Amino acid sequence: MKVGVLGSGDVATTLASGFLKHGHQVMLGSRTPEKLKNWAAANAGGKTGNFADAAEFAELVVLAVKGSAAWEALRRAGEASLAGKVVIDACNPIADAPPTNGVLKFFTSLNESLMEQLQKHFPDAHLVKAFNSVGASFMVNPDFAGGKPTMFICGNDDGAKKTVTGILDQFGWESADMGGAEAARAIEPLCMLWCIPGFLRNEWSHAFKLLKK
Ligand SMILES: NC(=O)c1ccc[n+]([C@@H]2O[C@H](COP(=O)([O-])OP(=O)(O)OC[C@H]3O[C@@H](n4cnc5c(N)ncnc54)[C@H](OP(=O)(O)O)[C@@H]3O)[C@@H](O)[C@H]2O)c1
Repeated sequence: MKVGVLGSGDVATTLASGFLKHGHQVMLGSRTPEKLKNWAAANAGGKTGNFADAAEFAELVVLAVKGSAAWEALRRAGEASLAGKVVIDACNPIADAPPTNGVLKFFTSLNESLMEQLQKHFPDAHLVKAFNSVGASFMVNPDFAGGKPTMFICGNDDGAKKTVTGILDQFGWESADMGGAEAARAIEPLCMLWCIPGFLRNEWSHAFKLLKK
């Protein structure tokens, strides 16, 4: 697929390299494309541009920017370029405030997630929450002794979730579909849970797994 990744941080660059590794065509986008020179030099075949370039290029978009800038990044990407496309939303609504006893603060409430807000603003894009509940270094084919970890996903479009489940399979994850966009109210806070051992004990090497009978 042609994948447009919006962002220049660890998540965006890691996922962009992962998509390239798995044979997809990739354009990484930033407000300042010069920031992406190192990534382009290290990732043969990878293209770079601004948010609008990446979204226009893409069949599938990945949103991996600071949570408070997610709406602005999609606005710059352009509503028309997002319409009808799968948009993987890896963002977390982390507030600009220090954690309390290792617990991050969010700028959203438990009754309305960031992804629901974004989906309301961009109704023609097919948002799917994924990749938000694990550190960037484990997003692409992680190797845990306990086997494949679980990525909790949600979104309103079943076809989009099927596409994302296929990508997660390529990236070495099993998917757990939690339903519509409202489920992001539960999936986004998994990032708080994931970070607690890190902030309290500097333990950052774990992932969630859903056990079933
Ligand atoms: N780091 C992790 O391990 C991890 C794991 C799971 C989920 N996440 C989530 O994934 C997202 C990306 O995290 P990250 O650590 O890779 O990067 P980050 O530092 O949270 O975000 C950097 C990105 O935010 C964009 N940005 C900042 N202010 C902006 C604005 N006003 N308008 C438009 N874009 C703006 C930057 O765009 P420019 O390139 O244009 O500067 C850059 O691409 C976050 O929502 C984070 O919570 C992170």
